[in-house]
Order: sequence, then C-alpha cells, then structure tokens
Amino acid sequence: MANRTELLREIKDKIIKANNSPLYGYRTKNKYFPVIGEGSHDAKIMFIGEAPGKNEAETGRPFCGASGRVLDELLQSIGLDRKEVYVTNIVKDRPPDNRDPLPNEIEYYAPFLDRQIEIIKPEVVATLGRFSMGYIMKKFGLEAELKSISQMHGKEFGAKTSYGSVKIIPLYHPAVAVYGTDKEILKKDFAILKKFSKRK
Ligand code: URA
Repeated sequence: MANRTELLREIKDKIIKANNSPLYGYRTKNKYFPVIGEGSHDAKIMFIGEAPGKNEAETGRPFCGASGRVLDELLQSIGLDRKEVYVTNIVKDRPPDNRDPLPNEIEYYAPFLDRQIEIIKPEVVATLGRFSMGYIMKKFGLEAELKSISQMHGKEFGAKTSYGSVKIIPLYHPAVAVYGTDKEILKKDFAILKKFSKRK
C-alpha cells in the first residue's frame, strides 16, 4: 500500500495538472505555483487557511508571508514548530488581487482537502479564518453550530471521521493580527491546542 507521502504526492500531481480549475489560467499567466500544503505527514494537528497570497503563489509554500510570521509566532507560543504540524489551505491557487475565495473555487478544491485529511488523519483540524471554518463545520455535520467567527474562535467541537474521532477548533486567521487585532487573543486560542501538540 502506498504510504502517506506517496498519496500526498498524487494529490500534488493532480492539482498541478488541474487545467479545469477556475484559477488555473490565472496561475499559469502569472507563473505562480499551486500551494498544496507542508509539514509532517503524521501530524496530529492540521491547520487549514483560506488561499495562497502572492508570496505563497510565488514559492508554492503555505503561509510564508506576513500571516505566516504570525502563525510561526503563535505556534512558538505553545512550543510547536511548523515541522510538527501540517499546514494547508482550502483553495490551492491564489485568487486574483487577494480577494476572498468564491464558492465555486472552494467547491473545486475541497475534494483535494478532503483527501489530505483522509491521508494525514489528524486528531485536530484547526481552521484559520471563516472560509475554512464554514467548510469544515459543514463537512463534519456541524452546520447547526455555525455562528460568526467572533463567536466560534477558540471553541472545540467533536466529530467523527472515517478514521475515528476528530476535534474541530475554529481559530481567527493570523492576518487579523497583521491588521490590528490583539495577538494575545490569538495566543489564548492557540493555547487550547497545547494538549494535542505532541506527535503521533
Ligand atoms: N493566507 C492564507 O489563508 N493562506 C496562506 O497560505 C497565506 C495567507
């Protein structure tokens, strides 16, 4: 049976060739890379952001700009390194002008995210921002609990997956600290992850 790295490689190959994607033309015109995800393939915690920004699309790496620096600081505040977790996005290509992802873009890329979850089998899915929160809460049958991110951040929700139970933890997107939200609020939310933080 193929191992996790090989299975994740297959997803990468498919996304690279995804010329029916709504963002494929924009990617190739700008010589951008798709951003698949990065980190431990045995991670206990998977972080799911929104979509790559310019830095990410130019390098193919998630959260490598200003939001990424905030993410690293938040991870450090609970003694975690990026290498110990897996970081990805719901949308795998950069939307033009940093606009919000469109529903058809989320719909197109979500099956790739679903596969990443099935392969990595995280114990905790930590969503970063309202788009991944909305998708993940619905995916795991928790739509009835869905409220605004200001009411949801830092709460824990239990769900069942094909591989066992999972905790869903909605978090603010790290960019909110870049735009002025008090980082201490984000640190307090991240502290919840500490109890799950050791590797499998
Ligand atoms: N914002 C995101 O949601 N994802 C990234 O990879 C970078 C910025």
